[in-house]
Amino acid sequence: MRTDMDTTHMTDEAAGTQTMQATARYEYGDADQVHERTVARPDIAADQVLVRVRAAGVDRGTWHLMTGEPYAMRLFTGLRKPSQPILGLDVAGTVVAVGADVARFQPGDEVFGIASGSFAEYAAADEAKLAFKPRRLSWEQAAVAPVSGGTALQALTDAGGLEAGQRVLVIGASGGVGTYAVQLAKALGAHVTGVCSTSKLDLVRRIGADRVVDYTRDDYLDGSSAYDLILDIGGRNPVAQIRRALTPAGTLVIVGGEDGGRLTGGMGRQLGALAMSPFHGHTVKNLIQKEHYSHLERLAEHLQSGAVVPAIERTIGLSGVADALRDLGAGRVRGKIAVVVRDDE
Ligand SMILES: NC(=O)c1ccc[n+]([C@@H]2O[C@H](COP(=O)([O-])OP(=O)(O)OC[C@H]3O[C@@H](n4cnc5c(N)ncnc54)[C@H](OP(=O)(O)O)[C@@H]3O)[C@@H](O)[C@H]2O)c1
Repeated sequence: MRTDMDTTHMTDEAAGTQTMQATARYEYGDADQVHERTVARPDIAADQVLVRVRAAGVDRGTWHLMTGEPYAMRLFTGLRKPSQPILGLDVAGTVVAVGADVARFQPGDEVFGIASGSFAEYAAADEAKLAFKPRRLSWEQAAVAPVSGGTALQALTDAGGLEAGQRVLVIGASGGVGTYAVQLAKALGAHVTGVCSTSKLDLVRRIGADRVVDYTRDDYLDGSSAYDLILDIGGRNPVAQIRRALTPAGTLVIVGGEDGGRLTGGMGRQLGALAMSPFHGHTVKNLIQKEHYSHLERLAEHLQSGAVVPAIERTIGLSGVADALRDLGAGRVRGKIAVVVRDDE
């Protein structure tokens, strides 16, 4: 049971706050149900911290949590209604209370990471999903990094085994995950080709891709170029077709895509890819990113050095979240959108 009785340290401001502003919805559905509302401030469990949110990030996972699709996801998020009405995952802010078992943080620490319900003035976050905010980053920059940047890093290194000098193809280079994947692959010494649509070619070029390809005009999987590692973040092509663009010992990491059915989303494609793995020489892996601070700390090194700079399209307030989610669903966002929640200090 979560109660403030578990709390060892809480600032006076947090202790005196019973309600807060948040962006929430009470049913699965479209962005029309998403509104800024006054809700109860969350309590924390013994292994959690209460974060006073300075900024949050809009990501595809949040869009899926809004729609409740693929349906399989509802096994974990609430079958009929969302168990967490407040949206948002990415967070950056100041610790204002720590649970009794929390060892790594204390009130006043500046953190970034993942907290369910981050589109709010306060969010309860698991200690294990937070790291110290890289000092050189603004709140907005830190807030758009955890989910997308952490996913890109794990895809390239843990799943992809990237080595300096390798040729990497990033399918979906202009989006949340892709803009980090391009920059991280460059920072790790790869030659990077980024795939996106026409209007976003300039963005992908600007963040450092050696080569950009417009998927609306060019067949980048015709076999004329071969890659040691392909990250499939766009998710629209059959796996057999993508494998044509791999070197004989190349690796394909399937990160995601929005082309699957309403029941299982991209999972069907991922399972099919694994089933075929024993019958060819390529390595095919499905990524499920781990929400753990060890990955955030690795990501923080690249952010603090300046090798990776979050690509922020625009900054909004809590009342702008519904429009941001509409734009994300329609594929209109370039990189990431940041939500500024508290900027009074
Ligand atoms: N496995 C995991 O743990 C994990 C973690 C995070 C995200 N994901 C999933 O990964 C996917 C991408 O996430 P995101 O945050 O990067 O989404 P996003 O910001 O919406 O970006 C989507 C990207 O896909 C590209 N794309 C769209 N249609 C394409 C096509 N036909 N061919 C090639 N590329 C195409 C887009 O390019 P244009 O915008 O230029 O059209 C854009 O670069 C989502 O399905 C998300 O759920 C998985």
